[in-house]
Amino acid sequence: MNIRTASLFSLTRARILRIVTLCVAAVGLASMSVAGPVEDSIVDRIKPVGTVCVAGDDCAKGLTMAATGPRSGEEVYNSACMACHTSGAAGAPKFRIKADWTARLAAGLETVYANAINGKGAMPAKGLCGNCSDEEIKAAVDHMIEGI
Ligand code: HEC
Repeated sequence: MNIRTASLFSLTRARILRIVTLCVAAVGLASMSVAGPVEDSIVDRIKPVGTVCVAGDDCAKGLTMAATGPRSGEEVYNSACMACHTSGAAGAPKFRIKADWTARLAAGLETVYANAINGKGAMPAKGLCGNCSDEEIKAAVDHMIEGI
């Protein structure tokens, strides 16, 4: 090692030493600064986004469910009745086909509604629409027989 290299080396060593010292100082500072309120704010920032809020919890107070209101007869028909009543599956009276409905309607609209709500033969109660209200079923019947 000549003098030039040696001085270069010692210079580099001095630099490395300084850098290491700086790093240690930085780490020390960092660890000091994460204590206390800063730590709390970090915990606060990295906490999961959102919380589960169940009806009845304090956090749910003031929240209102979107008013859905009753579904239209058409909506109910399309989602719950169409499968059988468009094709006439299992002898289901077909959508707006007068010949299929006259004899049934002769028994009175209330009876027809009741049969749709409670079921009749191969017609399942409420067409298996478990969350349909009676009113929604009636609206679906009205939609099916409209114009008859
Ligand atoms: C799984 C097939 C099926 C589904 C789904 C279905 N129906 Fe029916 N429906 C039938 C069949 C079959 C009949 C004929 C029953 C009979 O007369 O024995 C019928 C009959 C009816 C009748 C006539 C009742 C009467 O008085 O004779 C009405 C009204 C009716 N369905 C309404 C509905 C409505 C409203 C929905 C949807 C919410 C629906 N149905 C869904 C099969 C179905």
